[in-house]
Amino acid sequence: MKVLLTGAAGQLGQALIASRPEGVELMPLRRSDLDLADANACHELVRQHQPDWVLNAGAYTAVDRAEGEPELAMAVNAGAPQAFAEALAETGGRLLQVSTDFVFNGQQGSPYRPEQAPEPLGVYGASKAGGERAVLAALGPGRARILRTSWVYGPVGANFCLTMLRLHALKAAAGEPLGVVADQVGCPTATFGLAAACWRAIGIGADPGAAAVLHWSDAGAASWYDFAEAIGELGVAAGLLGQAARVRPIPTSAYPTPAARPPYSLLDCIASREMLGLEPTHWRVALAHVLGQLADLRAIPGTRA
Ligand SMILES: NC(=O)c1ccc[n+]([C@@H]2O[C@H](COP(=O)([O-])OP(=O)(O)OC[C@H]3O[C@@H](n4cnc5c(N)ncnc54)[C@H](OP(=O)(O)O)[C@@H]3O)[C@@H](O)[C@H]2O)c1
Repeated sequence: MKVLLTGAAGQLGQALIASRPEGVELMPLRRSDLDLADANACHELVRQHQPDWVLNAGAYTAVDRAEGEPELAMAVNAGAPQAFAEALAETGGRLLQVSTDFVFNGQQGSPYRPEQAPEPLGVYGASKAGGERAVLAALGPGRARILRTSWVYGPVGANFCLTMLRLHALKAAAGEPLGVVADQVGCPTATFGLAAACWRAIGIGADPGAAAVLHWSDAGAASWYDFAEAIGELGVAAGLLGQAARVRPIPTSAYPTPAARPPYSLLDCIASREMLGLEPTHWRVALAHVLGQLADLRAIPGTRA
């Protein structure tokens, strides 16, 4: 099975490459291979290579910057999936589009189900919702699969966990508290579990019982404050930090950002987990695993993890 993977240098892309199942002929694409803002190039690449699947893990993920660059965010997050889907409609392939909890406004106060209609707050969420709509319109529910996830992090790339490890070290050394937003709730999702879910979503292929829209996150719930607190505690246990900083809960209003965030964006993953045949891992257990991976990486001389 030939799979064309976008976003190969991203945090999810790297986990997907590391966990490629046997029998998959993977074609990983980085920015230098394909500019996702170039819809014609996306279309042409699919025509040329005729993959069985496009796994679109590439995205414009800078949530705040997107507010000032809406055209680019839309081109990458909606235009590229649309171009892939239209080309795949011609060639007979399928598309797995990775999407986000940010397609929801976070106001309902209970976990979002896959069939609920998106209602994004900002440009990033709107662009990802546009991508979802476009692939479903071009390929239909039989050949398009959307996998929404949340708060993604792993041992490589740019993410909240790696930022917090740096800040814990800095603030602990300075004897200062680390203020982290405590009134936004979601679920951290480690790339190793997310990659497994993506491969499984491809594996169930054309199963007529499979839903077009799936939700995947690790299990449980957390605020960013809870997540930061656990990163400190488990970072010390993994030997990554000598000492954790004291984490101070702050309200969203004390940390203003250009893009509004959904205050409660938990994804209801129950039906999707069953469909994928995957057991959930609690986010703290997944975090301990990722910090262990990071400690191993840092023990290798010359690595920059
Ligand atoms: N990160 C999260 O918290 C989160 C939450 C929910 C859903 N998601 C979704 O999960 C998926 C994977 O995200 P991630 O966390 O792995 O993001 P990431 O680490 O930021 O990776 C995104 C990749 O897309 C590439 N990219 C961006 N613009 C491009 C362009 N114009 N042409 C070609 N490549 C381009 C980036 O290339 P460079 O490496 O060259 O910059 C990067 O490798 C995305 O669909 C994202 O929307 C992420």
